[in-house]
Amino acid sequence: MNAGPPPGALRLSARELAPAWPASCAASDSEIIAALCEPRARISPKYFYDAAGSALFERITRLPEYYPTRTERAIMTLAAGELRQQLGAGATVIELGAGSCEKARLLCDLIQPRAYLAVDISADFLGQAVAGLRCALPGVEVRSLVADIEDEVTLPADLGGGQRLVFYPGSSIGNFDPEPAAALLASMRRLAAAGGLALIGVDLIKERSLLEAAYNDAAGITARFNLNALAHLNRLIGSDFDRRQWRHLAFFNAARSRIEMHLQATVDARVCWRGGERSFRRGECIHTENSYKYTIEHFGRMLERAGFRERLWWTDQRRWFALFLARA
Ligand SMILES: C[S@@+](CC[C@H](N)C(=O)[O-])C[C@H]1O[C@@H](n2cnc3c(N)ncnc32)[C@H](O)[C@@H]1O
Repeated sequence: MNAGPPPGALRLSARELAPAWPASCAASDSEIIAALCEPRARISPKYFYDAAGSALFERITRLPEYYPTRTERAIMTLAAGELRQQLGAGATVIELGAGSCEKARLLCDLIQPRAYLAVDISADFLGQAVAGLRCALPGVEVRSLVADIEDEVTLPADLGGGQRLVFYPGSSIGNFDPEPAAALLASMRRLAAAGGLALIGVDLIKERSLLEAAYNDAAGITARFNLNALAHLNRLIGSDFDRRQWRHLAFFNAARSRIEMHLQATVDARVCWRGGERSFRRGECIHTENSYKYTIEHFGRMLERAGFRERLWWTDQRRWFALFLARA
């Protein structure tokens, strides 16, 4: 039984549900501005997720071009028997980046845990999702934690017992560069605690046209999602980004095995924020997201290096997506 985080466990910078972003992000102004001022300007992908961004992401998951969500859900069903066997009764599921909790709903139906903790940075959206899940799963103790998983994170001391399953679906691990991805995997192992499990969704390398279509949908929802980061930043740092001056770009960088998303200035643009400003030339880009694509072998090695012992994986017939189960 693991009634609390073991020594050295990933500590979530926890906070009760709040109307905006977690307090841990109050210090984010300087971080956001520093990234905007780099020679190659950046916005961290976590800034996609205000309530509007989270809702747009949900629309993305239902797009015909966006194969990851439906493929991962189908693989979860395939893996259910093994999961039930490995976890036993009374398990606690901890989901990182839970979003709408839709996959948690499926997972809980499949494995019937005793408790479920949803962790996400998008507070309002998480609050609604968790309320819905509580109604749908009256037999499961459903809790939420608003936290930035890039920071030190502290789990509630009275989190349910039983074996832990750390669930990180949606190929969100692909948003991290190799070094922080390795650090996050190691943290997940500690969070799962000795003998616990991690269940991680990973997007696989495939034909460029399929990858690029998934991030350039015909309905333009991914473009709206990308541009929404500017509106979110305007609120967070008091900037005056004008969305009409930017366009969405997404392409596969084969050398680095990742989809890159950028916002490209369509005019010479000057952007001001509290205490500073920057000019962007027409055509200049702000890098907003990476989404690394892996082979099964490569990701298996990453799990091994992060200290996971037994590793199992499932994939779909087309080998587009994989679900890894690893023991801490
Ligand atoms: C790509 S969505 C995946 C949502 C859902 N898990 C799924 O598989 O469909 C990423 C989720 O992670 C959350 N997120 C992104 N960066 C985060 C961070 N640094 N800390 C906590 N949550 C984060 C977002 O708010 C969003 O709900």
